[in-house]
Amino acid sequence: MLTGKKIIVGVTGGIAAYKSCELVRRLISLNAEVVVIMTASAQKFVTPLTFESLSRNEVITNMFPPDKFVSTRHVDLAQWPDLLVIAPATANIIGKIRAGIADDMLSTVLISTTKLVLICPAMNVKMYENPIVQENIKYLSKYGYKFLEPEVGDLACRDVGKGRMPEPPTIVEEIVKLLGIKQDLKGLKVLVTAGGTYEPIDPVRVITNRSTGKMGIALAKAAKLRGAEVTLICGQTIVPSPEGINVESALTSGQMLQKVRAHFNECNVLLMAAAVSDYRAKVTSDKKLKKEARGRTLELTETKDVLAEVTKEKGKRIVVGFSLETEKVLENARAKMKEKNLDLIVVNSPEAIGAEENKVTLLFKNGKKKELPKMSKEKVAQGILDEVGRLMKR
Ligand SMILES: Cc1cc2nc3c(=O)[nH]c(=O)nc-3n(C[C@H](O)[C@H](O)[C@H](O)COP(=O)(O)O)c2cc1C
Repeated sequence: MLTGKKIIVGVTGGIAAYKSCELVRRLISLNAEVVVIMTASAQKFVTPLTFESLSRNEVITNMFPPDKFVSTRHVDLAQWPDLLVIAPATANIIGKIRAGIADDMLSTVLISTTKLVLICPAMNVKMYENPIVQENIKYLSKYGYKFLEPEVGDLACRDVGKGRMPEPPTIVEEIVKLLGIKQDLKGLKVLVTAGGTYEPIDPVRVITNRSTGKMGIALAKAAKLRGAEVTLICGQTIVPSPEGINVESALTSGQMLQKVRAHFNECNVLLMAAAVSDYRAKVTSDKKLKKEARGRTLELTETKDVLAEVTKEKGKRIVVGFSLETEKVLENARAKMKEKNLDLIVVNSPEAIGAEENKVTLLFKNGKKKELPKMSKEKVAQGILDEVGRLMKR
């Protein structure tokens, strides 16, 4: 989602500095490149090592590091990012920016930058309501600095009032908006399925497939950041479930059908990326099957097709299916699209399973075809959602 975006996170000396660790972690998980600059006071609250490990980059703490050639690093740093976020921003740094003070690395980078700056004030309510702080915020807003208002709640000093730094997901959402990332799915309910299902044979053995859930999870994350309210129904996956998304588990095809049915009515878009088993054992044993010297024949029966079932009453919903074929790839995908009443089908190849990248062809109901280049699953997710956004506008 933030692939290719460069972000400086400025951390100043407030209690909420601990929340910035989570902010950095989230930005990294969305593929942003992050450099953290800490003030001296910030280092009293959290160590640079924590941010170094999370950002996978050197943390900048010193304008004049000993034994190091730095030249005019502040000027280079000021122009490097797409956006700078100051979280938490103390009353002190806000006052310093307004006054044009540049007495440490963070304030010097801030005065040198021409890039977007998002300031997240966090402080005691009396500090925040101090007319000088308020006047500074007003003044800086006129010069294009963006502010994310603090929230009302219990403060570390045991006061209750406005001053809490918004939670990291809210800051990430604001960053996404400021970076001009599309919000074309805002107000829509998007249902996504991911991963493979498994069908039990006996208490220990299952029939399953090699789906990892990477594509479906990338779609769920991307839809969320484009403003959608996302529900993700997960079969077996090897990637952790994304945060800030309603995730439900459905391990068998029967559970998957039940969960998709339960959410289908309320959704505007269904992205069916899960690899649901086509067959299950006709009879499941409640005891572990013993080895048979003469071998064993397992009788299979078809599972109910989730897409075909729910699209019987599709209404105006946009439904996207996935197809993976090894023969007559496009012909079979087109037949599947028709049979299951889909708006769009994403054609994958077997190499996509488990890979970080994917090369897909999109086939549309109206006969149109679009090839996407081989790229990361995050980018493929964006490409698919661009089309979903267009289809929703019709
Ligand atoms: C325990 C403690 C918590 C503090 N929390 C805040 C805070 O949440 N917000 C704030 O503006 N200042 C807070 N301060 C005061 C700042 O740390 C102080 O103004 C410092 O000079 C800020 O430096 P900096 O802006 O360079 O990081 C706190 C100080 C202490 C000792």
